[in-house]
Amino acid sequence: MADPVYLTTPLYYVNAAPHIGHSYTTVAADCLARYHRLRGDDVFFLTGTDEHGEKIAQAAAVAGLSPKAFADRAAATFHALWKQLGIEGSYTRFIRTTDPDHEATVKTVLQRLKPLLRQGTYRFWYCVPCETSFGLSEIDAARPACLNCQRPVSQVEEEDYFLELEPHRAWLRDVIEREQMRIWPVERRNEVLGMLAQPLPELCITRPRSRVPWGIDVPFSPDHVTYVWFDALLNYITALGWPDDPRFARYWQEAGAVHLIGKDIIRHHALYWPIILRALELKPPALIFAHGWWKIGEQKMSKSLGNIVDPTVVVGQLLKEQPFAADIYRYFLLREVPFGQDGAFSEEALMKRLQDDLANDLGNLVNRTLSMIQRYCHAQTPRAGDAISGVSGLSAEIASAMERLEFSAALEAIMRLVTQANQYIEQTAPWKLAKQPGEAKTLQAVLGTLAEVIRIVAIALEPFMPRVSASIWAQLGLGDAPRRLSDLSRWPALTAGAPIGTPQILFPLPRTNA
Ligand code: MSP
Repeated sequence: MADPVYLTTPLYYVNAAPHIGHSYTTVAADCLARYHRLRGDDVFFLTGTDEHGEKIAQAAAVAGLSPKAFADRAAATFHALWKQLGIEGSYTRFIRTTDPDHEATVKTVLQRLKPLLRQGTYRFWYCVPCETSFGLSEIDAARPACLNCQRPVSQVEEEDYFLELEPHRAWLRDVIEREQMRIWPVERRNEVLGMLAQPLPELCITRPRSRVPWGIDVPFSPDHVTYVWFDALLNYITALGWPDDPRFARYWQEAGAVHLIGKDIIRHHALYWPIILRALELKPPALIFAHGWWKIGEQKMSKSLGNIVDPTVVVGQLLKEQPFAADIYRYFLLREVPFGQDGAFSEEALMKRLQDDLANDLGNLVNRTLSMIQRYCHAQTPRAGDAISGVSGLSAEIASAMERLEFSAALEAIMRLVTQANQYIEQTAPWKLAKQPGEAKTLQAVLGTLAEVIRIVAIALEPFMPRVSASIWAQLGLGDAPRRLSDLSRWPALTAGAPIGTPQILFPLPRTNA
């Protein structure tokens, strides 16, 4: 039976349109989900939208809509983006925190935790854009600014319900140190262990309805709604039908959750979330991977800084001449920056990847090979000779990179094979062999070898560039045959004599005179 895998993205706030940063986590999660499926694993891939809280209510008021109508519109924008990026159909569920099953889960959890909660007065600094509070002593009252985003914060005093975190500090540190809950990369793990070196303040999990009306009802207090972060984190168990659905046992308990997030929300995921789970007698996630930020120059891309790049503009306008624009964008995100580090987005960097890696290397390899098979082999797959040297280690290299979520390293390994194959073409010069009648067999073997390399590249690229992979597959004449990771190490695997498909230029570039 296939191994279960549970993968999640954060739920994106619906107050603003998605930008590159949001698409990054979802593209990475989709890539990982596809990789596991290619391996034959049984994947539950979850994404969705975070729809309650002050900042959504404020944005809805500005738009002149009810919060729910506003969220409906925004959730549709996210759906459309995932469709454009080839992700729709890959996720198992798109959850919205306004979904009725989620609201029911939150209320059940609150009822269960009620005996653990303390009611009291809460005085704090609050950052609405981050939906995050800070202790009175944490912020300089002369210049009150958010510790996260540096925007102004305001002081609030109100009656709320609290969950104590401090009694959980010792076991949580232990669980992290023993790697029962892994936090990657190591810088983020150290950051969390640093947080756990200090006493933990209580977590306020409600808001007075009078101040924040847009939230999930607190079943035992008509005057309160649920704090948006407490509500949102619980989505990860709602989606699996906690507590009784067999999917919960399979994907949460057996598989262990893999949460992909940005480094800005590590505290919520690595401190609050395992503690909430523990209070429910549930185990912590298996892995939290916090990736870096996309920046423009030196600044984090964010709506409030006004420096966002819209993925639909990149795909629909910058790359509009490209038949595989979304895949080029995916390739750029996953290849340009090691997962976990910050990266700079620029049009020049995107175009350079397109030109060098994709058009000159990958596109050329596929097109040259298939055109030569058409011309010299009656468009029939020739029998392969020996494999070129880069083939044998590829499978292990990809496995080890993907195990560590090093997407860029996996792509580097695949592209190294592409480069080698191009060198092999130069060395063997099939166009010369074609002119020598005595070399017919060698010519067939060379082109057969190249066809096998392309087959391997198509399989390996599936998680990263699913549409390009499907196109190469079709060009090889493989039609509906499944792509499987286990076939990476088969040599040869193609049926000699079978017809290839129609060669197609993958990455057409305007001709330059340079
Ligand atoms: N709603 C919360 C998450 C709740 S999860 C239970 C939230 N939403 S968000 O829309 O503000 O951001 C979600 C995620 O978007 C971040 O964690 C990060 O994954 C991604 N990014 C937002 N801006 C980013 C960059 N500039 N660069 C990379 N990713 C960033 O937080």
